[in-house]
Amino acid sequence: MTATAARPSRILAISGSLRAASHNTQLLRAALKFNPGGQDIEIYEDLRAIPPYDLDLDTPELRPAAVTELRRRVQEADGLLIATPEFNYSIPGVLKNALDWLSTDWTRTEGLPLHRKPIAVLGASPANFGTVRAQLALRQIFVWTDSDVVVKPEVHVFRSHERFDADGNLTDEITIELLQQLLSALQSKIEASRA
Ligand SMILES: Cc1cc2nc3c(=O)[nH]c(=O)nc-3n(C[C@H](O)[C@H](O)[C@H](O)COP(=O)(O)O)c2cc1C
Repeated sequence: MTATAARPSRILAISGSLRAASHNTQLLRAALKFNPGGQDIEIYEDLRAIPPYDLDLDTPELRPAAVTELRRRVQEADGLLIATPEFNYSIPGVLKNALDWLSTDWTRTEGLPLHRKPIAVLGASPANFGTVRAQLALRQIFVWTDSDVVVKPEVHVFRSHERFDADGNLTDEITIELLQQLLSALQSKIEASRA
């Protein structure tokens, strides 16, 4: 951290996997543990509660409560950390659905939650080439939303089942190092956006 950062950065971490033993969620837990400093990282736990996107309900008055809460948390966060699995060469529908709800401001009164938001992406997959395409698909979404996405390092945790212990702790040294580099790059973006 530099002297310009008055308080720790607030990072909202979102996993695209709902399953309890998700490697992607475990990566986010590892981000809390190995955070190089200067960041308060909170893991978003309510992705399951986000209803299917409905434009007819996408107003400040009509939005489902879970969506309003997610939008608030994203708007209050200094940055996002998003870990996505690869589902059918893309990101899971539940994650895309949440991002759709975060991409709009039809009444032009609230601001766009993802606009210029510093975002770091990463992903885990048990396959040899898994997560590469999913992360590209995720990055593509952030072109439309005009988010400020960390370009490097890319953190592709392939053969993910080899990188965690039986309790779900990230044990792979290279992945830990990459994760720390990613968090530092996100921090730099946040500090640049504050300056
Ligand atoms: C519906 C579905 C589609 C999947 N499609 C792919 C895929 O296209 N490429 C791939 O490498 N793995 C694919 N997988 C495997 C997931 O990447 C794997 O289950 C991953 O570990 C899920 O992440 P998690 O551990 O965070 O739950 C798919 C899994 C599911 C359930």
